[in-house]
Amino acid sequence: MKTVETVRDLRTVLSSLRSNGASVGFVPTMGALHDGHLSLARELRTHCEVRVCSIFVNPTQFNDINDYRAYIINVERDKELLQQEGVDVLFAPHVEEMYPAGFQTSVSVSEVAKPFEGALRPGHFSGVATVVAMLFNAVAPDVAIFGEKDFQQLALIERMVADLKLPVRILRGAIVRDADGLALSSRNARLSPEGRTHALLISRGLYAARDSFRRGELSAAVLEEIVKTSIRQMPQPIIDYATVVDEATLEPVQKVRGACRILVVARVDGVRLLDNLALT
Ligand code: PAF
Repeated sequence: MKTVETVRDLRTVLSSLRSNGASVGFVPTMGALHDGHLSLARELRTHCEVRVCSIFVNPTQFNDINDYRAYIINVERDKELLQQEGVDVLFAPHVEEMYPAGFQTSVSVSEVAKPFEGALRPGHFSGVATVVAMLFNAVAPDVAIFGEKDFQQLALIERMVADLKLPVRILRGAIVRDADGLALSSRNARLSPEGRTHALLISRGLYAARDSFRRGELSAAVLEEIVKTSIRQMPQPIIDYATVVDEATLEPVQKVRGACRILVVARVDGVRLLDNLALT
């Protein structure tokens, strides 16, 4: 695996890899890699010849500077994992490479970015859209993949790519779960053993709601209540939201019709855990 730190070097490496017409696939990450990220790289295998991964902890998407400072990654370990997965190129720029002095441009997506994470973390999605636009410009991938776990982020990227007519195909990567149902996340490392057990109530609630939907329940309020009831079994439940939305617009619905999904965020041990499930 070739590791590069500047856009210039990245373009040089990719232009030689592309010279025989190879297509390029891209997985952007902020490091702290786990099997969820690696599954995205694995999924790309069948869609392109050259796989590029980026590791960049993007300061502009943290609405709290302390969270940014506390975000620790082990790049050497992440590199080993990518190497084992057979990724061809790692782009790991420094902050000054992405945001040199004088930087003053940002990309903002309006409606999709407003509710949920957008409302709770002001500026977050503008930071995400801006850095992903820059990364797309640097890598120029034919295809890029984003995990469904951050579903609002995925919807935002899909909107941005469609609106800006960016020549990249976006793939959705399925959520990877531990055997007991917990959605993989780098945040899980911050859970106590009891917290991890409590966290299971989130996915259990989602699966119970989906079972109820499959038995014919179409009321969003009823399905949301099933999720919340499960989470309320935690000793100190904090639910940021548990809402059935239309998958394309992320607007809350009253009745499930067409492609809908339940989005949920609950806090365990002070850690915000995001999860969601399609109602199919
Ligand atoms: O999902 C992430 O890890 C980040 O939001 C992303 C897409 C790499 C942008 O910094």
